[in-house]
Amino acid sequence: MPTKQQHNILMLNGPNLNMLGVREPDMYGFKNLDAISAKCKEYATELGYSIDFRQSNHEGELVTIIQEARSNYSGVIINGGAYSHTSIALLDALKLLEIPIIEVHISNVFKRESFRHHSYISKVAKGVICGFGAHGYILALNAIHTLLEE
Ligand code: DQA
Repeated sequence: MPTKQQHNILMLNGPNLNMLGVREPDMYGFKNLDAISAKCKEYATELGYSIDFRQSNHEGELVTIIQEARSNYSGVIINGGAYSHTSIALLDALKLLEIPIIEVHISNVFKRESFRHHSYISKVAKGVICGFGAHGYILALNAIHTLLEE
């Protein structure tokens, strides 16, 4: 029997997400990014996937990471933080990818200020998960899994 393809998934986080746990916990919860990363890695292993969990506060670095994702990954899960609402550069980089993109927001951005209602990333995302707290990353892994198994 042929062996199942090992899927590698990029989970990319934008600015200020390194401050989860101390940053507005009423909005974003008490889990820090390391705890979220550990949970995601555990769940990805159950699905038979490996993940690279990355974070950067720098727009250009995020662009470079996305460009490099072109050949290395089967899917991208991205929480672009505030750059989701502002960055045409992230949108253009994501347009290079021919793999499924799932957008995640920990908070329900549609319950918040109107400047958070628009996302450039949504234009290229297969779907958006928001408002489920850190569990949104797990939901996104499930979504990628469904897309890759289709
Ligand atoms: C966020 C929502 C953004 O509006 C905000 O700038 C963030 C976090 C979220 O996960 O809910 O940094 O992406």
